[in-house]
Amino acid sequence: MNSETKVALVTGAAGGIGKAIALRLAQDGMLVAAHYRSKETEANELLENLPGQGHIIAQADVSEPDAARTLIEGTHGRFGRLDLLVNNAGIFEQHKIDDLDYDDWQVAWQRTLQTNLAAPMNLAFCAARRMIAQGHGKIINITSRGAFRGEPKAPAYGASKAGLNSASQSLAKALAPHGIMVYAIAPGWVNTIMASDRLSGPLADEVRNESPLGRVGEPEEIANIVSFLAGAGTDYLTGSIIDANGASYLRN
Ligand SMILES: NC(=O)c1ccc[n+]([C@@H]2O[C@H](COP(=O)([O-])OP(=O)(O)OC[C@H]3O[C@@H](n4cnc5c(N)ncnc54)[C@H](OP(=O)(O)O)[C@@H]3O)[C@@H](O)[C@H]2O)c1
Repeated sequence: MNSETKVALVTGAAGGIGKAIALRLAQDGMLVAAHYRSKETEANELLENLPGQGHIIAQADVSEPDAARTLIEGTHGRFGRLDLLVNNAGIFEQHKIDDLDYDDWQVAWQRTLQTNLAAPMNLAFCAARRMIAQGHGKIINITSRGAFRGEPKAPAYGASKAGLNSASQSLAKALAPHGIMVYAIAPGWVNTIMASDRLSGPLADEVRNESPLGRVGEPEEIANIVSFLAGAGTDYLTGSIIDANGASYLRN
């Protein structure tokens, strides 16, 4: 391993957007720690297909308190540096306010906020410790268009992603003096398992036509943005929330 080679940790990399990000960063020449939770077979397949040598996979449930420390220290311990954290892992679970009992409502809020907001911030905390010592680093949080438009069937999801946008801006301010840049990318619909019910159901055309492009995004389009932000010359974008939704929220 060349000690100049940059290292990225990507959470939720066994499929969907995270997989596309891991592949793209490896293609760009970075060493990748590809995190997964349950999809071990897919994670091993990804490891075989990542361009270049020396990448690793790492298992963890990020909603558990110790997971962040283990993942960050495991990655730093293996490579001796950590240049980029991509907080991509997330859940979307429906919990309609008019359709749930109080106990289930509590569970939905706790699980969603823990996975989509607290976990990325725990990872950011542990990563920032290492990045401050290095004097540089980048953190990219994958949020959602739902942060701005509301999620009537999954309010905790919308709130978690709005919280993650806000936390990204807070950390961008707090960490800039240490040479650490923080960005958020807020996708609209993207063609992954998370969106598959809607994209194969009766409302699929309606979903596609939310964008004047008449389609949803592809995971590689989000990976392109991560690749750009991870590259040189993007420091002045720190604190940005980048919309990636095919102009869909200009539609209604
Ligand atoms: N698809 C969309 O339309 C869309 C739109 C806006 C934003 N997003 C955001 O984009 C990100 C990626 O989503 P995706 O569309 O690629 O969905 P996906 O294919 O369902 O991927 C989600 C990933 O998160 C991981 N994950 C979930 N809970 C976890 C936990 N407790 N611990 C560790 N990992 C966990 C999953 O790991 P395992 O599979 O290994 O269990 C999975 O790899 C998410 O943050 C999502 O909110 C997606």
